[in-house]
Amino acid sequence: MTKPSIILIGMMGSGKTSVGKILANHFKFSFIDTDLAIENKENKTIDQIFNLSGEPYFRMLEQNILKNLEKNNCVISTGGGFPIFNDNMNQLLNLGTTIFLETSLKEIHYRIGLNPKRPLYKDESSLKKIYVDRIPIYSKAHYTVNTDGKSVLELANEIKLIIE
Ligand code: S3P
Repeated sequence: MTKPSIILIGMMGSGKTSVGKILANHFKFSFIDTDLAIENKENKTIDQIFNLSGEPYFRMLEQNILKNLEKNNCVISTGGGFPIFNDNMNQLLNLGTTIFLETSLKEIHYRIGLNPKRPLYKDESSLKKIYVDRIPIYSKAHYTVNTDGKSVLELANEIKLIIE
């Protein structure tokens, strides 16, 4: 059966990849993580791409990936900045069902602190600025699910109820 793709957006550390994999498995959809797709295509880590070629180049790679995303039967986990640049958010809204995984700054800070390998994560105040700038764009999503204090399984179940 053909169903619209599910697109997860939100800040780094909001659980897009982990939740996306569970959803893809549940709905028998294919799964794409845009960061991973870029890393595979460039044969470099995101960190290396930022360091060697800079953020604008990375954003161009994201825009290129967007052209090839599936409209149907796919779960798409996006990088945190993916909807923010160019006209990407509007295009995602037309592509499938967008879900904003909303996470408080405090929780993002805690989760990223456990795995700080992200080029845009420097300290709490830089994170706050990114967060505040991005909220109006993330909030355009078709649905918003708050992730604070929830396990990835709980989140996946919540999203299943929205989609089914
Ligand atoms: C970014 C988030 C990262 C990755 C890159 C830039 C951002 O993805 O795309 O480091 O701009 O917020 P995650 O959201 O998967 O950490």
